[in-house]
Amino acid sequence: MDQKVINPEYTPEPDKMNVKKGLEGAVVDTTSISKVTPETNSLIYRGYRVQDLADHCRFEEVAYLLLKGKLPNSQELAAFEQQERSYRSLSPATKQVMSLLPSYSHPMDALRTGVSFLGTEDERIWDRSSNLDKAIRLLAKIPTLIAFDYRTKKKLPIIEPNPQLPIAENFFWMCFGKVPTPEVTKAFDASLTLYAEHSFNASTFAARVITSTESDLYSATTGAIGALKGPLHGGANEAVMHMMLEIGAPERAENWIRQALAQKRKIMGFGHRVYKFGDSRVPTMKKYALKMAEITGQTKWMKIYDILERVMVETKKIYPNLDFPAGPAYYMMGFDIPYFTPIFVMARTTGWSAHIMEQAANNRIIRPLSEYIGEAERPVIPIKER
Ligand code: COA
Repeated sequence: MDQKVINPEYTPEPDKMNVKKGLEGAVVDTTSISKVTPETNSLIYRGYRVQDLADHCRFEEVAYLLLKGKLPNSQELAAFEQQERSYRSLSPATKQVMSLLPSYSHPMDALRTGVSFLGTEDERIWDRSSNLDKAIRLLAKIPTLIAFDYRTKKKLPIIEPNPQLPIAENFFWMCFGKVPTPEVTKAFDASLTLYAEHSFNASTFAARVITSTESDLYSATTGAIGALKGPLHGGANEAVMHMMLEIGAPERAENWIRQALAQKRKIMGFGHRVYKFGDSRVPTMKKYALKMAEITGQTKWMKIYDILERVMVETKKIYPNLDFPAGPAYYMMGFDIPYFTPIFVMARTTGWSAHIMEQAANNRIIRPLSEYIGEAERPVIPIKER
């Protein structure tokens, strides 16, 4: 066997060999996009409290803020919206690809495929200087892809995007062929703002890792969609509603959760890696979910909500995250459960694109280490002798 020669200039860095499972507590880069402060349960996007943005701004203003770094004035917003609305339609080829997908495919898989296909259509795919324009294209086309998948799978005629309508209203229009009352569209619009950005969460980090190899924005977004799909991340808003349907009635909620906890089941929509005393976005989303309960008369979901929250906090000191109120809110708005996480993508594409541009502007390839715990080095025995 070869003699091992240790490079005399090599000094091990013990600090680098501390395994940080799940990267817990690891600060991997700087960002000026958003800040989560768990001590005060707060989240700011470029300095603005997310609750204030959700209540006082439309999602388009927040998208502008995340992508361009400042809140727009009226003229800037009008120009931005005009550009976004002009990009909403899908090409015939994209429609064809989307309509070829199996009827049983999950909408997140359909959306991941759709976004990946959009990348193949963009001749400037490698041109990073057009990333902002690409980001606006995705902001415009992702809702159309989702609505296209929804109507195709329901065997309903496709409804083209309406350039007269803002993003929230247009999404209802493309899915259902009608726009609900302003109270409903406000609740939906606010949810998009709350979902838009959350620092180095798993999907955003995935997007930054892909960007760090100097790959393109569509690839990074496609990878981010794959990461968001998981039930420990964005998929939780769907899981919450499945859980609420399984419980079925407020009278069953307390027994259900106590039994689930005794069986060591994970309660979807609870817990967070960063927030340990409550998620800053929950009170605002809960307010809009309660509004939906009032409008639709479906009061049982929020009664189940309160019971689950009380038991989780009393027994485990674990608080709800944004997916907990968002799940029932989307259900009461009339969306099918498999479309909840794609709606999250509609919003988070803004945060992802902002991070992709930030990473590209000041890049270093992301390449962490691992501690090897496998077999010690051993000789290869030729196959006949094994
Ligand atoms: N239900 C029951 N117990 C939970 C829980 C939940 N939703 N979330 C965390 N816990 C428990 C863990 O089992 C663990 O208990 P243990 O120490 O006895 O093993 C403890 O709380 C610490 O949790 P941990 O798994 O270390 O948290 P994490 O930071 O690794 O994971 C989440 C964070 C979000 C992935 C996790 O809370 C979770 O799976 N939540 C449900 C899915 C969800 O809502 N995801 C959306 C996130 S925005």
